Amino acid sequence: MHSSQFLSHLGAAMACVAGIANAAYSIEDTYDTQNFFSEFNFFDGQDPTEGFVSFSDAGNANLTGLAGYSNGAVYLGVDHTTMNPANGREAVRVTSNKAYTHGLFVADISHMPGGICGVWPAFWTFGPNWPASGEIDIIEGVNSQTTDSITLHTSSGCSMSSSGSLAGSTLANSDCNAGNAGTGCSFGTASTQGYGAGFNANGGGVYAMEWTSSAIEVYFFPRNAIPGDISSGDPNPAGWGTPTASFSGCDIDSHFMNHNIVFDTTFCGQWAGAVWESGSCAALAPSCDAYVGGNPGAFTDAYWMINSVKVYQDGGAAKRNEGLTPVPFMA
Ligand SMILES: *[C@@H]1O[C@H](CO)[C@@H](O)[C@H](O)[C@H]1NC(C)=O
Repeated sequence: MHSSQFLSHLGAAMACVAGIANAAYSIEDTYDTQNFFSEFNFFDGQDPTEGFVSFSDAGNANLTGLAGYSNGAVYLGVDHTTMNPANGREAVRVTSNKAYTHGLFVADISHMPGGICGVWPAFWTFGPNWPASGEIDIIEGVNSQTTDSITLHTSSGCSMSSSGSLAGSTLANSDCNAGNAGTGCSFGTASTQGYGAGFNANGGGVYAMEWTSSAIEVYFFPRNAIPGDISSGDPNPAGWGTPTASFSGCDIDSHFMNHNIVFDTTFCGQWAGAVWESGSCAALAPSCDAYVGGNPGAFTDAYWMINSVKVYQDGGAAKRNEGLTPVPFMA
């Protein structure tokens, strides 16, 4: 071996040891204003969470401006003009045509619904035969909530540890089948920049969810603190520090598979409606449905603006330095 070759091999090996190898993740899919509404379909059935909502089909959403491309982003809104809509307030729920098992899901979002009484927005993934294939809720909350809830739901026999999560994140319970999966295992988080009005005031940011056989981890980066490797399209979570939420300890591959990506906004129903009376919103109206029906103007801000969702897959190269033994120097 020529010495120059030796030096370049040594350099590559040392880069691996230092954890600065080329990121293992490579892009699989990009969803943005070039293709979003071709690659996501509109769910227009009854809300499975029994909300006071009428999910619009694609044609109606386009005609009425409930959804579309706007200012270089994907806009997903709700009806904020109709008084007392008979069949629930119109909104949209979109689902990716493609399903994924494992991956790094990076969503750049500049505005979200949230922190609004009656509103229940979510950015999430789930698989067939709920809860058998699992559900991963990346952004979710209801009513006047000011911080994000990050939750998994799946079949029985999946207990998760929260170790390796941000200090301010609290796992309410470890059983992801709690409440027959309806409750799941859920993190409360601490940053008001990660949800609702605080998120929007800051121009939003990036949520990234990394799903491997060993862990499901969610990171949030406010707009002004997005890692350069995300911006450059070469993401490497090993350099991102502590995730907001880290779930590990259950056999992930037998509880989470074939997930479609979903964005939706619903009203009331099994969460926002169920807790209406116990929260600060109760003073506004006797029921969640009554408030949502009678106050269209309250929902002007209940929209998503999504710059992009990118899905990366692990190409198999060394991503973390654990398990790699340093290459000894030759004497
Ligand atoms: C509805 O669809 C047409 C044709 O694709 C498009 O030009 C228009 O911008 C859409 N409207 C909205 C609100 O996105």
